[in-house]
Amino acid sequence: MRQFLVVILSLCGYTSSVVAEQPLEADVRYFDIRIPALQVPTKRTHYVCQKIKVPDADTFHAIAFEPLISNHDVMHHMLLFGCDFDVQDTAPHECSGADAQCSSWLAQWTIGVEGKTYTPDNAGVRFGKHSYSYMSLQIHWNNERSAANLTDNSGFRIYYTTKLRQYDVGNVQIGQQDLDIPPHTIHNESGGCSGTCTAAMLPHPIYLTRTYIHMHYLGVNGLLEVYRDGKFLKRVAYDKEYDYKISPIHTHDPPIEIRPGDEVRLTCTFDSLTGDRNRNQSLYFGEGSNAEMCYAFVTYFPNVQNFDQCLQFDEFDMNCIDPNKPYMGGCDFRKFRQDLKSYLQDIQTNCPTIPGPSICHQQCGRSVGQLLNQPCLQGRLGSNTRRTILSQTPIWTDVSRIVDHFTETCN
Ligand SMILES: *[C@@H]1O[C@H](CO)[C@@H](O)[C@H](O)[C@H]1NC(C)=O
Ligand SMILES: *[C@@H]1O[C@H](CO)[C@@H](O)[C@H](O)[C@H]1NC(C)=O
Ligand SMILES: *[C@@H]1O[C@H](CO)[C@@H](O)[C@H](O)[C@H]1NC(C)=O
Repeated sequence: MRQFLVVILSLCGYTSSVVAEQPLEADVRYFDIRIPALQVPTKRTHYVCQKIKVPDADTFHAIAFEPLISNHDVMHHMLLFGCDFDVQDTAPHECSGADAQCSSWLAQWTIGVEGKTYTPDNAGVRFGKHSYSYMSLQIHWNNERSAANLTDNSGFRIYYTTKLRQYDVGNVQIGQQDLDIPPHTIHNESGGCSGTCTAAMLPHPIYLTRTYIHMHYLGVNGLLEVYRDGKFLKRVAYDKEYDYKISPIHTHDPPIEIRPGDEVRLTCTFDSLTGDRNRNQSLYFGEGSNAEMCYAFVTYFPNVQNFDQCLQFDEFDMNCIDPNKPYMGGCDFRKFRQDLKSYLQDIQTNCPTIPGPSICHQQCGRSVGQLLNQPCLQGRLGSNTRRTILSQTPIWTDVSRIVDHFTETCN
């Protein structure tokens, strides 16, 4: 009967959300890591983080993570990170991403996942002596009805052993950081870990054991694939009817080999057209429930130092350097922000503000060209820059009129 149930569930694509209990070895101990009972704010999206000391008298392998969910009405997801340094501040606090100094992602739970998650038999998540003495728990509350007087003290029970296994588990976040989803459409975004990055970052093959694809409300399909020598090799995970409330964790048994040079590509399909998902404005990347994400959280072994993020921004690799291409197409956002004011002032100084063909002279052309040729303003990256930097700069409203007028009149 149980076997039958598993088959049905696997046909529905939900096998791995219902992980069977596995017996744990007799010497396995546990501790809990959870926030104290906190009032949940009435705003819809709220992230709370807390750094917590963990056992560190010895080096340990964590081998199972059990979610302790105290308030199912608001819990959306939890992430657990290892902290690179001993930390002072251990009070719970509002946070947007990971805590500074605690960026090594170790485990996650998301709405829809039932029961413990286990590491593979030959691997564990290293912590303790000579490793992490502190972990940071991040909780995302989704208070959909803005209910008052809700509390929560969720967290994880962590099962661990001193009998270290052969390999350390690693986790890597793969995906696209620049999303631009037009209204009233079905739209794909893709990105991930390029062949250039796996070649640069992996000293040896790794083996993928679990995948969890993360989008928000408009996400309808998620597909993680491996390409070798530019050719499709294997599907890692496919969420055919994605729903962020019940997104499954896929387990890969046998584990999937990734060689240096392979590309691991995530494709996210967003629907801004159908039913409740219908939107009359573009949606972009962001943390809130009204913005979108396109990530795969992938667990693997053996752990590779610093291989914990492999992301793209537009077509550019964010976590590795391609010796043949400038990083981010030569766009340095910090420098662009610094220099922006002088570019804009140059245009104001050198171009007449009264419309007319008199705008088409060399000095004005040079000033407009200086701005428009900036690497941060090219292609799709340029749309992001216009939206997030230019449109937030007060004098841009005036200057954009001059630039538009120049490009219409003089080219
Ligand atoms: C919240 O709790 C306080 C104190 O227990 C109570 O006075 C208040 O009426 C409650 N509010 C709601 C919306 O339940
Ligand atoms: C979008 O991605 C899906 C895979 O999830 C694919 O089947 C579909 O053909 C893609 N659509 C476009 C327009 O590329
Ligand atoms: C766009 O959608 C919002 C929320 O659904 C609605 O309040 C607004 O009136 C809509 N605007 C237009 C132009 O349709």
